[in-house]
Amino acid sequence: MVGMTKQALAVVVLAAGAGTRMKSATPKVLHEVAGLPLIGHVLSTASALEPDHIAVVLRHERDAVAAVVDQFAPDALLVDQDDVPGTGRAVEVALAALPSSFAGDVLVVSGDVPLLDSDTLRAVLDHHRTQGVGATLLSTVPDDPTGYGRVIRDDHGDVLRIVEHSDATEAEIALTEVNAGTYVFDRGALTTALAAVGTKNAQGEKYLTDVMETLRSQDVKVHAIRVEDDWLLQGINNRVQLAEVHAHLNAMIIRGWQLAGVSIVDPSSTWIDVGVELAEDVEILPGVQLLGATQVGAGATIGPDSTLRDTVVGPRARVVRTHAEGAHIDQDATVGPFSFLRPGAHLGPEAKVGAFVEIKNSTLHRGAKVPHLSYIGDADIGEGTNIGAGAITANYDGVNKNRTTIGAHVRTGSHTVFVAPVELGDGSYSAAGAVVRRAVPPGALAMSVSSQRNLEGWVEANREGSPSATAASKAQSGKNKQ
Ligand code: UD1
Ligand code: CA
Repeated sequence: MVGMTKQALAVVVLAAGAGTRMKSATPKVLHEVAGLPLIGHVLSTASALEPDHIAVVLRHERDAVAAVVDQFAPDALLVDQDDVPGTGRAVEVALAALPSSFAGDVLVVSGDVPLLDSDTLRAVLDHHRTQGVGATLLSTVPDDPTGYGRVIRDDHGDVLRIVEHSDATEAEIALTEVNAGTYVFDRGALTTALAAVGTKNAQGEKYLTDVMETLRSQDVKVHAIRVEDDWLLQGINNRVQLAEVHAHLNAMIIRGWQLAGVSIVDPSSTWIDVGVELAEDVEILPGVQLLGATQVGAGATIGPDSTLRDTVVGPRARVVRTHAEGAHIDQDATVGPFSFLRPGAHLGPEAKVGAFVEIKNSTLHRGAKVPHLSYIGDADIGEGTNIGAGAITANYDGVNKNRTTIGAHVRTGSHTVFVAPVELGDGSYSAAGAVVRRAVPPGALAMSVSSQRNLEGWVEANREGSPSATAASKAQSGKNKQ
């Protein structure tokens, strides 16, 4: 930046293209990497520059894309491209939508280039402002330049023009430096130059890239800054590139957390979204996906083989082979193996949820345990309570969801059914197999199963000659000898 004066800035995000190579009902810029849609990454980066305006150019699946733009950049101008195709036309309609008083720099980026970071954009802006050029663009030398526009420089290294792959001669195709599709222009110069650009080319489009030659013909200088890390400039055109970019971003995210004090045993089987937050001494075992706005506190262990989405895990908690969404796991709690925590599951400090247990919209207070084979939905379970194996909250009567309220230090027998709405008082018990339909007072034992009767000799009488009858006879005669 020159001196301390803040030069006005508008960012134009190009997102009108159809993205046909994705072969998808979802617009290309809404495909996700690391938990954000492609355009979400781009808008977050653009917003970090604190521009005066962000204009997003839309056409294909306009409303779907507009809704997502609104989430990430609520103040962005939504600009509709007309029937004239091409990146030049897209920028032209964006310029027309900016306030006429705006006379600053225009930064053009693509909605499908998610890894371009704000430091790189600031470097282009700085260069543009300090060198006093009419346009500055980013270039790179990729492994395979097929399909990209080639940058043609003069003897001084300034840009003469950009030629699209489909319009290039053999000699031009042999050039390896390509246009990345990120540019800074002066608004006035760009508006004038675009007006002079036509659509006479192989694709019949109004190319933004043709502006370079126009500027040069007006003796305006154009610079290209070569970026060494071509991942930053990688655009997404198909699902192969989508997966490659995701894997690359994931590797960077993992490295960042490792350097911040998180142990990640197997980076190759660990996936962490950009919105995740991890404290020091978190340990992540193989096969873990931490998604959305998941947060993990200091000293907690996650994995192996667990998926946590939008879930908060407290310090020192242990989460083993678990699927959790929208759950809250407090400090020192233990979960798994094979547990399923659904939205609104809240496990208090030192609580325990064990094997084959599903918890939904329920709170377990401090030290409460649901160790085995249970479904707990719409329930409140008091401090120090132990829920016996195979418990079910019958929370749904076919029409309404009802709550089960269980007090502190309750002991429920195996295979208890809680028919909600129902309440169990502090210190109450239930017998094995109880179906609890009515309130249980504090300290009472609830039983609902009739007492056991044994019909002596029934097997020998009714299953004569069977292995069971033979075994029973043998046991009987042994007993008689004693
Ligand atoms: C463009 C460049 C090419 C560069 C490449 C880098 C032009 C003419 N060519 O080619 O030099 O090497 O990017 O990736 O600019 N878009 C619109 N409206 C349109 C057409 C496209 O908004 O009418 C948007 C797309 O949604 C996309 C971006 O512009 O976000 C780039 O369009 P795309 O078709 O991918 O450009 P390329 O042909 O790859
Ligand atoms: Ca194109």
